[in-house]
Amino acid sequence: ERGRLMFAGPVDFVKGVVAMPGLPPADRLEVCFAGRSNVGKSSLINALTGRKNLARASNTPGRTQEINYFTLGESRYLVDLPGYGFAEAPVSTVQKWQTLLKAYLQGRQTLRRAFVLIDSRHGVKSVDDEIMTLLDKSAVTFQVVMTKMDKLSRPEREKNLDQVRAALAKHPAAYPEIVMTSSEKGDGIATLRAIVAGLE
Ligand code: GTP
Ligand code: MG
Repeated sequence: ERGRLMFAGPVDFVKGVVAMPGLPPADRLEVCFAGRSNVGKSSLINALTGRKNLARASNTPGRTQEINYFTLGESRYLVDLPGYGFAEAPVSTVQKWQTLLKAYLQGRQTLRRAFVLIDSRHGVKSVDDEIMTLLDKSAVTFQVVMTKMDKLSRPEREKNLDQVRAALAKHPAAYPEIVMTSSEKGDGIATLRAIVAGLE
């Protein structure tokens, strides 16, 4: 388990945060995972940490409604953000998430990189583009992680990857390398782990 060793120390749930004052002390580097509801964030975090039920993965979109903090060893936090673009969520809930998300992305000094998850089948949607623009404005470097790549054939994958590359070209905060993953099959997980572990 090469990757587990890279996060020397325990991987544990810290807390769920619903408002900025609830954030843990900004005493270590952190990375966050953002993406549309149902994109596979919780599954990816589980695969990344090697812990099956660390972040709850569910079939019900919009289940993760808090900013969830996890420790990755002793020197960093992993942050699971509420899924966005969930059409059936009440407007008031959506507005609350948006306000919190914006405050978090703009105000968290120790946030080193945001991983924006994009479903391989769907590519970059307008809500993703909005988050990317927010990250540009907040000067937070973001890296795209394509999820569920096991659901696509190679030609479909290439086509959608081109769409994502074109979308990223408009965003100054985008990190050029795109990570292709499947939480189900394990593809790209070690690569992503190494990226997270290598951030300073
Ligand atoms: P919310 O927290 O509700 O916004 O969703 P999420 O982004 O955390 O997604 P979650 O990890 O709960 O996954 C949503 C659905 O996609 C579940 O049914 C998962 O089993 C499925 N899924 C996630 N990752 C993969 C993958 O790599 N491959 C396949 N085939 N299915 C996946
Ligand atoms: Mg989730």
